[in-house]
Amino acid sequence: MKKTVRALSVEEMRERGNIEWIDIGVEGLTNFIPGLPKGDAILVRGEPGTGKTILCLQFLHKGAENGEKCIYITTEETPETIMRTGRELWSDFPQLIKDGQIAVVDLSISATYTSEYSLVSKEEAVDIVMRGLAAQPEASRIVLDSLSSLERRLVDPTEFREVFMKVLLEVKKRGATTIFTAEGIPPTPDITEYLVDHLIYLDYHKHDVVWTRVFILRKSRSVPLKPQILKLNIEKDGLSVEEIPISLKPVWFASKI
Ligand SMILES: Nc1ncnc2c1ncn2[C@@H]1O[C@H](COP(=O)(O)OP(=O)(O)OP(=O)(O)O)[C@@H](O)[C@H]1O
Ligand SMILES: [Mg+2]
Repeated sequence: MKKTVRALSVEEMRERGNIEWIDIGVEGLTNFIPGLPKGDAILVRGEPGTGKTILCLQFLHKGAENGEKCIYITTEETPETIMRTGRELWSDFPQLIKDGQIAVVDLSISATYTSEYSLVSKEEAVDIVMRGLAAQPEASRIVLDSLSSLERRLVDPTEFREVFMKVLLEVKKRGATTIFTAEGIPPTPDITEYLVDHLIYLDYHKHDVVWTRVFILRKSRSVPLKPQILKLNIEKDGLSVEEIPISLKPVWFASKI
């Protein structure tokens, strides 16, 4: 059946344009931006060990503390390592899992395949994620960590775009705020970067022996701010951001030359 097409009225546009800001949980970030709009899709990219998984867990921890239902879909790490990281950072993390506030869905190779080497079609990949999402139908915060390992499972990786678009459509339909992660920062943006509403890079800035972790808000639809480059800290209770301290600025600029 064909859908009818019509222009939206001003009232409908206004209603749809009303932003409900949410705190994604990174300590200090609301000093720089009001939050991110509820229901949006966020892509977090970065090299290994830059903090992508911790950011995802912190996003869910924040939501769960506020009574929201959350779901963490892991396509790479096992639930055991996720639990270990969460428990190390926040003592109430196991309880939030126990209470069903945070559902962890294991879509890692060992859980979903009989053989480590079995690859899946695009239909199977979408179906696996949909079944994962069904574990917490009311979730208002969703994480899929990571897209890269999902892509690696496809028989034909060129079909990943279609898989991603279907998953994106589904999480949007649910009205959930969603974080996807992906490995590395590509030299030229790929399709996922254009399709999401917000793009965050976690990176290192290296200069001799000084390595500074950085948090870059690379793209943000609706956030009335220039791209933000902030110092990222990973400490005993998770991620926090702050302005690049003046003491690091000479190193920072020298490293750009
Ligand atoms: N409990 C903790 N306290 C402080 N720092 C930690 C703690 N747990 C992990 N870290 C640090 O956080 C870093 C980022 O870990 P995280 O798993 O989030 O990285 P990632 O970007 O998801 O990596 P990958 O691409 O390999 O999945 C680790 O390299 C480690 O140095
Ligand atoms: Mg990770």
